[in-house]
Amino acid sequence: MDFKKITSHAKEYGFIFQSSEIYDGLAAVYDYGQNGAALKNNIKNYWWKAMVQSHEEIVGIDSAIFMHPKTWKASGHVDVFNDPLIDNKDSKKRYRADVLIEEFMDKLETKAEKEIKKARKRFGDSFDREVFVSTNERVKGYYNRRDESASRLATAMKDNDLEDLRKHIEDLEIACPVSGSRNWTDVRQFNLMFSTQLGNIAGEEGKLYLRPETAQGIFVNFLNVAKTSRQRIPFGIAQIGKAFRNEIIARQFIFRMREFEQMEMQFFVRPGDELKWYEHWKEERMRWHLALGTPKERFRFHEHDNLAHYANAAVDIHYQFPFGFKELEGIHSRTDFDLRSHEELSGRKMQYYDPELEKSYIPYVVETSIGLDRMFLSQLSESLQEETVPDASGKESQRIVMKLHPILAPVKCAVLPLVKNKPELTEKARKMFDDLKYVVDCQYDEKDAIGRRYRRQDAVGTPWCVTVDFDTLTDDTVTLRDRDTLQQKRVSVEEVKTTLRSGVDLETTLRSI
Ligand code: GAP
Repeated sequence: MDFKKITSHAKEYGFIFQSSEIYDGLAAVYDYGQNGAALKNNIKNYWWKAMVQSHEEIVGIDSAIFMHPKTWKASGHVDVFNDPLIDNKDSKKRYRADVLIEEFMDKLETKAEKEIKKARKRFGDSFDREVFVSTNERVKGYYNRRDESASRLATAMKDNDLEDLRKHIEDLEIACPVSGSRNWTDVRQFNLMFSTQLGNIAGEEGKLYLRPETAQGIFVNFLNVAKTSRQRIPFGIAQIGKAFRNEIIARQFIFRMREFEQMEMQFFVRPGDELKWYEHWKEERMRWHLALGTPKERFRFHEHDNLAHYANAAVDIHYQFPFGFKELEGIHSRTDFDLRSHEELSGRKMQYYDPELEKSYIPYVVETSIGLDRMFLSQLSESLQEETVPDASGKESQRIVMKLHPILAPVKCAVLPLVKNKPELTEKARKMFDDLKYVVDCQYDEKDAIGRRYRRQDAVGTPWCVTVDFDTLTDDTVTLRDRDTLQQKRVSVEEVKTTLRSGVDLETTLRSI
């Protein structure tokens, strides 16, 4: 679905609001409304149960947002957590230099995909994508230019070659989207951490950072958890929490925010075993995504051209957002970089005694790191669909439906009296709601015609609607409507409970990962 429609749907149906909207909002900061908060909690729950509950070798923690300032010196964030920025002198707008180049590369890819689509239409069933891509001169040209740019960008980023970033933008003749001019400043580095000041200490010493990743809270607690959990390597520590980055460009809704949430897991392994575990987590994390029913072709593994300062291998899981394939999750082999740096700066030994090897070492770490808000956006865009379906009279009508996996749906079941002005129906329906609300998240709704109420529930992804009608009063059965198939069955309340319980049961999904 069109991205604009997705964002306006998110607002209209209580999923996401611009922060401080009454003051015209705060850029790249968002609030989650009643349905958004529920969906977000359900995603967290799915992640936590898959990562912590399903692995006896992983434990979960919840560390503070504020950490000792030396943490960020040790992690490298003070020195190298920068983005290259460039200003357009005419519009005075600020951009990330690497993103300007990446967007240019995306445009080349879009052009190539357009040609491929046209050719597929022309050749029909006999179309062979691989042959076409390797032989069509125009498509080859687009891909070659994209690949050349990708490798030049990776080298410049690795070498911190700001001059070449600027030159690259000039060579590609990239113009400012606002002024249309190519009047650019030099490229300079911009640190992404937000800072604040401790109340009782003035100056640099009292400078605190809002954590830009949750991972460091895990590293500094490694010894505490290792001792108190009595876990043996390999084992993992997981956590979900807020992170903050002073992003230069804030676009694409909740894709890039200044305040966001991460779900991270650090897996501590023996030195030398890290690449084996890296492969393991890469596959397992992909299975976690696929278990929700999202089609395989929506995902891609994207190996990093440009490794972060702490990694010896890194891959992203890219998801096909409405604005293209973009990073949803990262799996990084972080070596012993973080624990070693903390050992050096704190003077505390970050060693683990391995009873099998009978020696101590600093463990290596494989990390899985997913943005909760990006996961939210991927589910929002994946599930929101426009469909033509028969209405109550059998005529074709349009509906907007969120085909969320039931375990993620904010409301699992809506209880609806057929009509509102019959007290015997509304009383019965209310009673049923008061019973079902202990089984799953339910909503009671009696306003408007039944068809409109169904559409309202479809629009927020409610998998089941229970309608109480006059027959219910005599035989205690209800109509159970399925959101996706639109099938309606006459069932007893006990059967409704069985359907709801099994429909939202995580067990089958967790076992399939
Ligand atoms: N601890 C490793 C780490 O933080 P990262 O690739 O910088 O790695 C991990 O971030 C994930 O966090 C990303 O894959 C993305 O899903 C999410 N993320 C990063 N920056 C974000 C932002 N500004 N807004 C929303 N999500 C973000």
